[in-house]
Amino acid sequence: MYDIAVIPGDGIGPEVMEVTLELLNILDVSLNFTEAHAGCECYDRTGTTIPEETIQIARQADATLFGAVTTVPGQRSGILALRKALDLYANVRPVKSYPGVPSVYGDLNMVIIRENTEGLYSGMEEETPEGATALRVITEQAAERICKFAFDYAKITGRGKVTAVHKANVLKKTDGIFKDTFYNVARNYQGIELDDRYVDATAMFLITKPHMFDVIVTTNLFGDILSDEGAGLVGGLGLAPSANIGEKNGLFEPVHGSGPDIAGQGISNPSAMILSAVMMLNYLKENGEAQRLEKALSEVLNEAKRLTPDLGGNSKTADMAREIKGKLH
Ligand code: NAI
Ligand code: MG
Repeated sequence: MYDIAVIPGDGIGPEVMEVTLELLNILDVSLNFTEAHAGCECYDRTGTTIPEETIQIARQADATLFGAVTTVPGQRSGILALRKALDLYANVRPVKSYPGVPSVYGDLNMVIIRENTEGLYSGMEEETPEGATALRVITEQAAERICKFAFDYAKITGRGKVTAVHKANVLKKTDGIFKDTFYNVARNYQGIELDDRYVDATAMFLITKPHMFDVIVTTNLFGDILSDEGAGLVGGLGLAPSANIGEKNGLFEPVHGSGPDIAGQGISNPSAMILSAVMMLNYLKENGEAQRLEKALSEVLNEAKRLTPDLGGNSKTADMAREIKGKLH
């Protein structure tokens, strides 16, 4: 029995979460869900985007499923606060094609690993007489643990190459540390190809020659941007899952946000949330059930009979989920 913290959030978060929990309940794995609150509606009710209780529930759980939250102007982001509180330093964002999904490339399978605790997301901004500044923090310690994570991930998942992405030609000190640390860490790993590239060139090569990448490891903002680009290559945000991993906790969430333009219509694509649950099952070492759920989704995507509008279909979230349920039974 695993204790799973469930944070649906707001907007399309609760819509994709609901159907994902229904699918998880069918699997041969015993999950005990504890719901907790975060986001915009939570702020309206309680005055905070993420109550301390939510952080405690996530901290004590074996894993956390997170939907999506709308940013409240002037308030700290619930998900950023949670990543920080649980020290979820590694953000794992697969870029994987599924057969039948309209996409730029039909055969991609790479992973972007984004440093999740510092960089330009340190939240240190300051007004100055001329405007404002934001502090981009890179520490050797954080660079080292994310690079180690990337190489370990490559080793465990049988991937052959790790590429560090940075802008060390301009950000000489900060990204200089990131790049040097990457090569220092690499000395402890044999048999994995490695190289490094500038982020601007990487943004282009992701479009023109994405097969040159296998595992990308990069700093916070670059990883955020490149992973949305990656999602665009394989069918869009509705299909992009992610894992946030720390020493003690794992949190799994779609890359997308709360989709305010489609929220409440029941047409959000549940795939990204379902694939995040697949990543959670793998994290819990329930690999067989993870594979079973991914296969059921993949078949529904390939058959293309019940797909949400973002995938070119005209089905509702619930109809697509029912089709996946059918494959599981
Ligand atoms: P978004 O990801 O919510 O939406 C971008 C576009 O993709 C929209 O057109 C949306 O309809 C579409 N889309 C996203 N997920 C989809 C799905 N599952 N099925 C079908 N279409 C989907 O990003 P946006 O509009 O920039 O941000 C909306 C709100 O979400 C903002 O308040 C933002 O701060 C927040 N946000 C929250 C995140 C989180 O909770 N981790 C991550 C990103 C944004
Ligand atoms: Mg993002």
